[in-house]
Amino acid sequence: MIEISHLYKEYQGDLHKIQALEDINLTIDQGDIFGIIGMSGAGKSTLIRCMNLLEKPTSGSMRVDGQEMTTLTDAQLRDARKQIGMIFQGFNLLMQRTVLDNVAFPLELSGTPKEEIRRRCLEMLELVGLQDKAGAYPSQLSGGQKQRVAIARALVTHPKVLLCDEATSALDSLTTRSILELLKNLNQLLGVTMVVITHEISVVRNLCNKTAVIDSSHIVEQGLTSEILSNPSVDITRDLVAFEGVVRPC
Ligand SMILES: Nc1ncnc2c1ncn2[C@@H]1O[C@H](COP(=O)(O)OP(=O)(O)OP(=O)(O)O)[C@@H](O)[C@H]1O
Ligand SMILES: [Mg+2]
Repeated sequence: MIEISHLYKEYQGDLHKIQALEDINLTIDQGDIFGIIGMSGAGKSTLIRCMNLLEKPTSGSMRVDGQEMTTLTDAQLRDARKQIGMIFQGFNLLMQRTVLDNVAFPLELSGTPKEEIRRRCLEMLELVGLQDKAGAYPSQLSGGQKQRVAIARALVTHPKVLLCDEATSALDSLTTRSILELLKNLNQLLGVTMVVITHEISVVRNLCNKTAVIDSSHIVEQGLTSEILSNPSVDITRDLVAFEGVVRPC
C-alpha cells in the first residue's frame, strides 16, 4: 500500500541544512496498522508528512497505492490525497462549525449532494460513538470526543490510508486506550491501512501489528511489533521499552 525507497528530506535551516530523513526504506502492506516510533526530533512528523506530500521529499520514491507521489501535478496530488486521511495531536477542528459540519467538510469540498452528506456523516458519527453530539460545537467536547470527530472527518471520504501523527499524545491514558480501541475496530471494519506515529511504546504495543523505529533521521529497526518489543536489536528501542509507562509527557 505504501512503498518508500531511498527517501531523503533536507530542510534549509537558518545557518545550515538539516537532514531530517536519510535513506528511508519501508513497505507498509494493505490493512497494516504500522507504528513509527522515535524520540522528539527523530523525523517522525517529517516522514508521515512526506506520505501525503505535505512535505516534498528532497529525493527518493514514495508510492501510495501504486502511485508515485513525488512526481504528481497539483491537480493529481489533490486527487491522490482523497485516498489519504490524516489526524493530529491537536485535533485541528473548525471551532465555528458543529460536529456534524466538521465531519461534512471534506464531502462539501468534493461536491457531494447535501442529503448524502448528512447520511454519511451521521453514519460515521455512529461508528465513532458520537451520534448524540452532532449538533455540539468542539468547545463543548472533551479531548477524546474531539479526536473522535477528527477520526470521523478523516474517514468520511473512505480513504485507503489513515495517517495518525501523535493522535493520542494530548489525551490521558484511559482516553488513549479508548481511542486505540476505536482505531483498531475501524481498521477491521473498514480495512483502512493505518500509519501511527508515536513516541510511546504502549501505543505500538496495543495497536500496531508492525513497527519501525526511527532515530536521528534513520530507520534503525523494523518488523513485527511482537518481535521488536520482545527482542529489541538497538539501544534506542531497549530504552523505549525500559521506560514504558515511567514518563508520559503532556
Ligand atoms: N519546516 C522545517 N524547517 C526546518 N527544519 C525542520 C522543519 N520541520 C522539521 N524540522 C527539523 O527536522 C527534524 C525532524 O523534525 P520532526 O518534526 O520530523 O521530528 P519529530 O520526530 O516529529 O519530533 P516530535 O516528536 O518532537 O514531534 C528536527 O531537527 C526539526 O527541527
Ligand atoms: Mg512530530
